[in-house]
Amino acid sequence: NTEVIKIDANNIDENKIKKITEAFSKGKLVVFPTETVYGLGANGLDEEACKKIFVAKGRPQDNPLILHIAEVSQLDELVEEIPDKAKDLIEMFWPGPLTLILKKSERVSDVVTAGLSTVAIRMPSHKIAREILKDCMLPIAAPSANISGRPSTTSFRRVVEDLASKVDIIVDGGRSDVGIESTVVDMTVDPPMILRPGKVTKEDMEVLIPDIEIDKAIIDSNSGEVPKSPGQKYRHYAPKAEAQCFVGDLDKVVKEINKRVSEEKSRKVAVLATDETVADYKNVDLLLSLGSRENLEEVAGNLFEMLRSCDDNNVDLIFIEGFEFKGIGASIMNRILKACGGKIIFGL
Ligand code: TXA
Ligand code: MG
Repeated sequence: NTEVIKIDANNIDENKIKKITEAFSKGKLVVFPTETVYGLGANGLDEEACKKIFVAKGRPQDNPLILHIAEVSQLDELVEEIPDKAKDLIEMFWPGPLTLILKKSERVSDVVTAGLSTVAIRMPSHKIAREILKDCMLPIAAPSANISGRPSTTSFRRVVEDLASKVDIIVDGGRSDVGIESTVVDMTVDPPMILRPGKVTKEDMEVLIPDIEIDKAIIDSNSGEVPKSPGQKYRHYAPKAEAQCFVGDLDKVVKEINKRVSEEKSRKVAVLATDETVADYKNVDLLLSLGSRENLEEVAGNLFEMLRSCDDNNVDLIFIEGFEFKGIGASIMNRILKACGGKIIFGL
């Protein structure tokens, strides 16, 4: 039986936070909002509780979890060392949507790291997440709160859809603003390497680490390389329908999608357009705008919700407009690539 606890981020009820702390200390599973997506949390120091996360999500055992903390001082017991470049990133981006991979200490269980010698850690900025983490002062292991392979969840309603009756508590805490998961950076290699792009972009981090690199396998599905982060190798963020993305000159993209829509006689088709183009599509079964191209943060925030809307409407085929692989556009394209299982039509 899953209990729902509604919390107002602007008027946080301490008693409700205490209840969640108690649940974590008893080894229970609690879904809570973060600024990126909802997280499916358990006490990261409790192996049995962490094992239950994998069961609830249907997550492969070899995909490690992220530990969430409230204070930088909590790092001391979890990692071997904090390289200077990591300290710089922490100073600039924590709390916020940035996860660092560091060498793990003895204290961190192999269940959390899937047997790796490194551990992923982040300090979320969401008010509710922070209050929970400050109150319990435990490293909370939390993958995205979705069934493995489905798009991550950015609202309470979507969490219920995937995880009702599979966890002990679901916190109803409104929408997750960022909408895509945190940027993951491996700090155990030099130069550091981005393993998963997110709201904190390569360009943002280049200010501190000019030679920071990005794992080629995650933005180019044709590179033939295996992604360095275990989670990136799965077809992920995927709606049930087949999805295709079109990249290039925007007028040509719209023309090509309209042509393909007109050729579809029997399948139900959705188009994920943008504010700039949404009026230009014809005869689409489900036409949605991801937001304005002038505001890619908005596009990132809407992407997973709209992929799930396509599923609600039992769409068979989704045509998605592409974005430039620049700044947060690269992060959006990484998620779209995965939703499409690599089916991108380039060069329009
Ligand atoms: O925004 C987020 O990061 C959300 C919220 C809830 O914090 N969490 C999240 O967790 O997206 P998850 O488990 O869905 O994604 C974690 C990613 C996976 O791709 C995993 O493979 C990678 O981080 N990861 C975890 N530990 C790692 C490690 N030691 N080395 C390399 N990659 C690691
Ligand atoms: Mg995930």
